[in-house]
Amino acid sequence: MIQNSLLITFEGGEGSGKSTQSQILYDTLKEKGFEVIKTREPGGTKFAETIREILVQGESNKIDNISELFLFAAARADHVQKVIKESLKNHKIVICDRFIDSTLAYQGYAGNLDLAIVKEVNKISIGEIYPDITFIFDIDPTQGIERALGENNKETRFEEKDIMYHKKIRDGYMNIARDNPHRCVVINGTDDIEQISKKILELTLDKINE
Ligand code: TMP
Repeated sequence: MIQNSLLITFEGGEGSGKSTQSQILYDTLKEKGFEVIKTREPGGTKFAETIREILVQGESNKIDNISELFLFAAARADHVQKVIKESLKNHKIVICDRFIDSTLAYQGYAGNLDLAIVKEVNKISIGEIYPDITFIFDIDPTQGIERALGENNKETRFEEKDIMYHKKIRDGYMNIARDNPHRCVVINGTDDIEQISKKILELTLDKINE
């Protein structure tokens, strides 16, 4: 039987645990024999990874919100065209660490850009490729930032933005979950790791078997 393709996205504020859980889901599905790839945004292609370096490093206010929006969109368009579309066409399950909802939460809700414009730019960068399931990891931003900054990485441009920015991201994600109940599942980022991974696997298998 040919496996159905599926696009699964992981979303959330800084230090919410989404990257750990996307790796667990990838390992588990692979172990079960599914054809699956794991990728990330910004990134996933050589060009998009180059844009990533500009976006996630350096001083937090170095790029204005509009330029930021277009850089994320350029990275995404390349990634969708070269990696995601191809994989879905080949009946693979694609796990993507961040996608369009990050742009809506960060550049839209927190960056105060017009949400209709952000949605339109998202649409231009992805075409018809919308996620089938989106896991949104929710955590108190103060706790999340503390976790993220403890991880010893140099990609801290967003982590270093003020706490109000991160609170707006959290509220933004809750609005996105409310507006897209058919695909979004909110996960409490402070729950036990095993408990979360079990829930995510169950929901994913349900979707695969639909
Ligand atoms: P990461 O921390 O999940 O690796 O993501 C890199 C950073 O980029 C993170 O701070 C969130 C931010 N980001 C946006 O602001 N907009 C976007 O569209 C994406 C994909 C990421």
